[in-house]
Amino acid sequence: MKNENRLLTKEEAKNLNPGDEHYTSYVGYPKWYDVIGALQFRLLCSLGLREYHKLFDFGCGSLRAGRLLIPYMNRGNYFGFDPNEWLIQDAILNEIGEDLINIKQPVFENDEACLGKSFKRSFDYILAHSIFTHTGEDKLRESLQYFSDMTKNSGIIVATFFFEGKVSNNGRQYSGWIYPGCTHFNHDFILEVFSEYGFSGALLPWFHPAGQKWYIASADKSKIPPSKLINQLKGTTLFSEFDMNNETSGNKLKTSIWDRLLFHIGR
Ligand SMILES: C[S@@+](CC[C@H](N)C(=O)[O-])C[C@H]1O[C@@H](n2cnc3c(N)ncnc32)[C@H](O)[C@@H]1O
Repeated sequence: MKNENRLLTKEEAKNLNPGDEHYTSYVGYPKWYDVIGALQFRLLCSLGLREYHKLFDFGCGSLRAGRLLIPYMNRGNYFGFDPNEWLIQDAILNEIGEDLINIKQPVFENDEACLGKSFKRSFDYILAHSIFTHTGEDKLRESLQYFSDMTKNSGIIVATFFFEGKVSNNGRQYSGWIYPGCTHFNHDFILEVFSEYGFSGALLPWFHPAGQKWYIASADKSKIPPSKLINQLKGTTLFSEFDMNNETSGNKLKTSIWDRLLFHIGR
């Protein structure tokens, strides 16, 4: 039954649950497949991503962001890692096609053991969206060690986390990979662990419909924008269907969209 889900069309898959086996649902709510990819792409562009940079999409999944990033980047500059190869295959089949793969020659890796070997190169940007929302502290640390080797003191890391809810010990009770369940860390802990691996970091107020929190980190402190500029990175979408006042609900707007947007950008 599960495998049959993979054969559903995108429209038919809209009502599946996050974690269900379809390329649009395994990575999260299928109804947000497009916007969550766009949020990642827009944020990276706002942070200066250019076509000539080298970008590593860690846990690239079904190319939610990759289907926008691959056409944007120059040939050979998009690198994606995901242990679930079928997600990449289904995204190529249903979203981007083999022609784009041939033209842009993205590099994909599915074997975690290769991260320290074939992927041992220097990246300008590393994207880890909705990865550390599913890892225990051990995996987070392991990944930051990879990132430290991969950014060579200057690259920019963009990663999301869930803030602590009911959990009170910084995710330490979790270990390994938890999916589709979620893990939580608190702000101070996130900055502390960044710093242990040599990174400065900051929270970005970039919108996320599921309430994930965006962070920027870099070993080069000058890559962290000053707070005045960071505060402009709101990710606001005009005519958005999301309730900006209640990010986690994804409710439909109840009051004027303009009031909500002004509330979100804090004016
Ligand atoms: C919530 S999805 C996010 C996917 C993608 N970043 C996105 O935003 O669409 C989490 C992804 O992490 C992948 N994953 C599973 N184990 C992993 C691991 N050990 N390291 C990195 N990614 C992993 C899953 O296959 C899945 O594609």
